[in-house]
Amino acid sequence: MRRILVTSALPYANGPLHFGHILEAVQTDIWARAMRLAGHECHYVCADDTHGTPIMLKAQAEGVTPEQLIAGIEAEHRSTYAGFLIKHDLFHSTHSDENRRCTEKLFKALDAAGYISRRSIRQSYDETAQMFLPDRYVKGTCPRCNALDQYGDSCEVCGATYSPSELKDPVSVISGTPPVERESEHLFFRLDAFEGMLKEWTRSGAIHESVANKLEEWFSAGLRDWDISRDAPYFGFEIPGHPGKYFYVWLDAPVGYMAASLALAERDSLNFDGWWSADSGAELHHFIGKDILYFHTLFWPAVLQGAGFRRPTQVHAHGFLTVNGQKMSKSRGTFITGRRYLERLPPEPLRYYFAAKLGPGIDDMDLSLDDFVSRFNSDVVGKLVNIASRCAGFIARGGGRLASELPDPALYAEFAAACPRIAALYESRDFIAAIREIAGLADRANQYIDTQKPWTLAKDPSRASDVLAVCTQGINLFRALMTYLAPVLPAMAEQAGRFLGHPITRWTDVVHPLLGSELAVYEPLATRLDPKVVATLIEETPTSAAAPVSAPSAAQAAAAPPAKAPAAPSPAAATVGAKGEITIDDFAKLDLRVGKVLDCGLVDGSDKLLRLQIDLGNGDVRQIFSGIRESYTPESMVGRNVVVIANLKPRKMRFGISQGMVLCASNDNPGVFLVSPDDGGIAGMSVT
Ligand code: MSP
Ligand code: ZN
Repeated sequence: MRRILVTSALPYANGPLHFGHILEAVQTDIWARAMRLAGHECHYVCADDTHGTPIMLKAQAEGVTPEQLIAGIEAEHRSTYAGFLIKHDLFHSTHSDENRRCTEKLFKALDAAGYISRRSIRQSYDETAQMFLPDRYVKGTCPRCNALDQYGDSCEVCGATYSPSELKDPVSVISGTPPVERESEHLFFRLDAFEGMLKEWTRSGAIHESVANKLEEWFSAGLRDWDISRDAPYFGFEIPGHPGKYFYVWLDAPVGYMAASLALAERDSLNFDGWWSADSGAELHHFIGKDILYFHTLFWPAVLQGAGFRRPTQVHAHGFLTVNGQKMSKSRGTFITGRRYLERLPPEPLRYYFAAKLGPGIDDMDLSLDDFVSRFNSDVVGKLVNIASRCAGFIARGGGRLASELPDPALYAEFAAACPRIAALYESRDFIAAIREIAGLADRANQYIDTQKPWTLAKDPSRASDVLAVCTQGINLFRALMTYLAPVLPAMAEQAGRFLGHPITRWTDVVHPLLGSELAVYEPLATRLDPKVVATLIEETPTSAAAPVSAPSAAQAAAAPPAKAPAAPSPAAATVGAKGEITIDDFAKLDLRVGKVLDCGLVDGSDKLLRLQIDLGNGDVRQIFSGIRESYTPESMVGRNVVVIANLKPRKMRFGISQGMVLCASNDNPGVFLVSPDDGGIAGMSVT
């Protein structure tokens, strides 16, 4: 028996769980359940990630203490996870006594071993808010390309990276005042001391080959010291021996894994050292998204090793979830929270769909609502549940007891023989292949029943025993399938276990078919998804431009699915008309202005977009991305007058910030047409 500790990344305690979080939790939960079905001892822990500047500021903005803020969010997270049948052995918080103890212990061990260094650094400081500013809390003009409104660490337009002090006209996002430079002593973790160890560890099977290249890049760029301290005010743990200095949130966050397991060990009298000591024979598995690989594959193993603990056995990284081909976004209504889903639908269809999409690599996955409905309705309701419901009726009418023999033991043996293969696919996180294999078997089971036609046999009373035999075979094939899907559909598996009179607890249950035993009354195991309900997962988004003129959203064009898939209808198109009348006051909210295109270029990585520099008069020059490339060349744009929504909230895109929208008339055919003022219209005029 293997002893396994498994974790999901700790969600930030500053907002609700969304589908990306749920995807990760479902992946981890399926894996953990599969390990338990294999007979291993597997504990799954998680926690809320509670520290850091954003949470401190959010609490301030809401007029509550950070403790109050995170308590409310923790309750919400717990209930959402429970709603999706995520079976944590324990769900904890990084703002806990256990985490403080573990973090201090690790830090003291690292310090004693000489891995902590100190030096002064200069940083942006907000004199009004009286605090040091993280890079993302300073904004200004890019020193390289002059793009406005860029963050203090990098420019989203030209890709330059720099420090906040290099920005032109920097302002603090918190107070709006220009920051000053201040010096302060920080503590650093000497990551470079672990280069050899990390190179060896990454080749030990700890990470999937698809992420190994990423690590090579980081190694060749050189491992740099890691700043692990922050100055007050900061919501976190004060560093022992360093008053006014706090552990950086990313130091104590992974320690939260350890802390959650400590709380579990203390609650259930389990062996904490058995999981974490340097010579531990247990396995440690972290499930994370690809965005936080650096922390989990470099910092965390190094911190553990430096402090004398074991390293992770494996770090399992997954890709990102998109919805209907687009990045989840609040403005497009595709930012689906776990709550929103649970208010409408049961958890298992989504678990099934995610499983059917999750492979071992870090490719992104798309949730297509249509595909979601048809996959669940056809695979689970149509194929799997159908076998049980068809057979159960005949068996009930024949006395409710299974036959004492299988009519086709060879077919059953084939189903049983698939078990090790399917178990291995779960373990290697190739859920796509596991589901494919199971769906193939379900087809075979349905074929068997279709060929034997128990409903025809049942018309002839002398063939009652044949009906029972065929349905006994069918029920046993169903039981094997349900066992294989138990990690994905745990509530259904439990209900099926009650129906069968034998709970599903181990893969090895399938070795012996159920014969001669009584079945309980069959109750429907699942119902079909209603596409109309599923469609309401996506929020209708208000449109800003009035019909019939629509503004092709730049972000939408950028993220549009590749040519082969038919483009999803734009939210603008879908809601125009349905929205009804607006008042003149609604219209007055739009700041429509004439702008002159100063410059225009292609956008690397997008075949839909053009990047425009547009003069709106009075020195107001905007960068705007517009999905008009199919109809306009950059050259033809320069010098033109266009109409711009000037007060549209700037939108962050993969390519940079878009500071407004250009109005176009469009429908699918024959393309888009810019809206422009007649001769005489000049930059800066209002459009009324
Ligand atoms: N708090 C850190 C993790 C600390 S772990 C010691 C964090 N939190 S997060 O809330 O931003 O993200 C939590 C997890 O959700 C991460 O693994 C992240 O990759 C994952 N996802 C967030 N959005 C996602 C998608 N759209 N799709 C899939 N997973 C995504 O990072
Ligand atoms: Zn730039």
